[in-house]
Amino acid sequence: MVRVYTLASGKGGTGKTTVTVNLGTCLAQLGKETFIMDADIGMANLGLVLGLEDVPITLHEVLAGKANIKDAIYEGPAGLKVVPSGISLQGFQQADPEKLKDALKELVNLCDYLLIDAPAGISRDGVIPLAIADEVILVVNPELSSIVDALKTKILTEVVGGHVMGAILNRSGVEKADFVSQKMEKVLGVKVIGTIPEDPNIRKATSFKTPVVIKYPDSGASIALRRIAANMAGMPFKESPQAAKDGFVDRFAKVLFRGKR
Ligand SMILES: Nc1ncnc2c1ncn2[C@@H]1O[C@H](COP(=O)(O)OP(=O)(O)O)[C@@H](O)[C@H]1O
Ligand SMILES: [Mg+2]
Repeated sequence: MVRVYTLASGKGGTGKTTVTVNLGTCLAQLGKETFIMDADIGMANLGLVLGLEDVPITLHEVLAGKANIKDAIYEGPAGLKVVPSGISLQGFQQADPEKLKDALKELVNLCDYLLIDAPAGISRDGVIPLAIADEVILVVNPELSSIVDALKTKILTEVVGGHVMGAILNRSGVEKADFVSQKMEKVLGVKVIGTIPEDPNIRKATSFKTPVVIKYPDSGASIALRRIAANMAGMPFKESPQAAKDGFVDRFAKVLFRGKR
């Protein structure tokens, strides 16, 4: 069973952190024991997005040999477990890759899914998460430059012995989404496992330090993210709990009124 996924992209800003946090939350909502781990030290890192920026022990301390990974696990929304990283990159650069592997081994024993938010680019700390995941998921925007970057990341992943499972098209427009995702599949040679629309609710949710799937569960992005999570978990997809309920009320009303017309 695939357990460790790395969310990756060639450049920053494609939505890796957003997808990691929200997909992780959706998997947790589906009852899966899910961990997310920050290996991205960008601006909007996992800790900041979830309000965990001031926690004392992070992956940084673990990789520096100063703490155990179990002490760097924090409670997120819907039972999601979060392993934040320090703000500084140094923890990673000085880290012994074996330490990271050991830490991961411990985490994997505790969970159904581990999602790793990878740093962009081809630095050493960027390559390790590509190599150690069971599967890499590329987070791509609908621009040619992003697709080309994703292709580079795919090649890099294969060079270091990893495997790309598929791509998520993030920030897609309403029009041409199918066209773009078909193009992407051709250029990247991987399946597009989901499409997330451009959605202003994502940024709004960030200011509440809450994932969009919790803050605005009926938004377009949230529905798309739940669909991807359900597919990953091999579970049936419900558009929204409310929609399912409405559907039930509609059907119930139809049955009630059927004989009366
Ligand atoms: N589908 C989307 N619609 C609108 N804004 C988005 C979407 N996905 C990401 N963003 C915004 O884009 C910015 C970069 O996203 P982020 O997840 O931090 O990217 P990365 O981790 O790849 O650098 C953030 O401000 C985020 O709120
Ligand atoms: Mg990020």
